[in-house]
Amino acid sequence: MIQNIFLIGFMGVGKSTVARFLRDHYRMSLVEMDEQIESQEGRTISQIFAESGEEYFRSLETKLLLTLAQEKSTVVSCGGGVPMRPENVAAMRQSGKIVYLCAAPEEIYMRVKNSHTRPLLEGHMSVDYIENLMKKRLPKYLEAADITVATDRKSVQEICTEILASVS
Ligand code: S3P
Repeated sequence: MIQNIFLIGFMGVGKSTVARFLRDHYRMSLVEMDEQIESQEGRTISQIFAESGEEYFRSLETKLLLTLAQEKSTVVSCGGGVPMRPENVAAMRQSGKIVYLCAAPEEIYMRVKNSHTRPLLEGHMSVDYIENLMKKRLPKYLEAADITVATDRKSVQEICTEILASVS
């Protein structure tokens, strides 16, 4: 049995794509944290941020992670801010491996520039902004990660093979 895999990393790095591939090809269950929170709340992430604030959203993430720690053979596509809270990292570490997916800010920008689902990037859509936020978050991503996998110029198959070779 494959243990739980928590995919962490910046918005747009490809966590959801990798998570779906692991579900489809390696018989893992999939939890997409943002989707689960949206369906629990009956509101989009943007609405939650606008109506209830970021801290409220962060507490929903923590609550969800604590319940996910009971799962087995599950790949969890985490929201980009999840590793910023030490209690989230502890919950992930307790029940699986933490995989940090990374990519260059230019690559991230290309992937997210036309999207309007991420409140933290709304009105700040530039390579510079992404690079600065990424730099601020990097120490927490690296501290949390059991393994780091660069996604630039790799196929999703290559990324998943790399992940599974390290976690199983
Ligand atoms: C966030 C990332 C988003 C979502 C929310 C906040 C972040 O998820 O959870 O907009 O703080 O980086 P994705 O990383 O799946 O885009």
